[in-house]
Amino acid sequence: MEVIIKETYEAMSRAAAHEVARLLNTKPNAVLGMATGSTPLGLYQELVRLHREEGLDFSQVTTFNLDEYVGLQPDHPQSYHYFMHENFFKHVNVPQQNIYIPSGNTSNYRAFCGWYEQRIEECGGIDLQILGIGSDGHVAFNEPGSSLTSRTRLKTLAKQTIDDNARFFDKAEDVPIYAITMGVGTILEARELILLANGDNKAWAVGAAIEGPVTGMVTASALQMHPYAKVYLDSPSATQLKMRDYYDWIEEHRPGAPQSL
Ligand code: F6R
Repeated sequence: MEVIIKETYEAMSRAAAHEVARLLNTKPNAVLGMATGSTPLGLYQELVRLHREEGLDFSQVTTFNLDEYVGLQPDHPQSYHYFMHENFFKHVNVPQQNIYIPSGNTSNYRAFCGWYEQRIEECGGIDLQILGIGSDGHVAFNEPGSSLTSRTRLKTLAKQTIDDNARFFDKAEDVPIYAITMGVGTILEARELILLANGDNKAWAVGAAIEGPVTGMVTASALQMHPYAKVYLDSPSATQLKMRDYYDWIEEHRPGAPQSL
């Protein structure tokens, strides 16, 4: 796992966006895994800027989102369909038919989840998956106790996640209790992973995910088992890392380091 710590949220978002741009410049028809929430907003803004000002092209890209709340219509302002449209898709040129987001309104969740997994496979698998992290250490909505081999499925959100996400809704009671989420196993099959975290409320989860044991109690710790995982942090989210000096030392020497990829 590579740990890249930037002073600010903006610098962290730019660095992560450039990782996505690097992939698209070498593989224009890449399959991207998308995340929602407040963390990747800066990354999406930078990708939109690169599209508008530097011609970054999404016309051959396919996307799969990590998760969606159950019970919200796609036009609900807190649905992840709406989030993706407003914050990313309406500003770039990903073809509509190449956009996949789990349905929160299917009549058969098991069948839908199987189909979603199958579509990922038929599209050649995810090249690069963007991830955030919950304050309880979850990736996607793989709450503590999830299997590290889990696949896309219906999941009950943890109380801590509902409380964290209540900030987006009028009242805590409005936060859906269920979601469809890619599993940890699904995520680990992506060829590259980039996880972003910012803010001191993520410091515990970041420390546990990067330096703690690999455990289903902190599903982001599963990234330790992935051969190409990069973690982009701002300074406040990195305060509980014991190896901080080493990560900074690597960054300092990066310009002269031999290229491995
Ligand atoms: C969203 C997702 C979640 C969030 C996490 C952090 O698609 O998969 O795991 O990444 O809950 O959310 P924010 O960024 O709002 O703190």
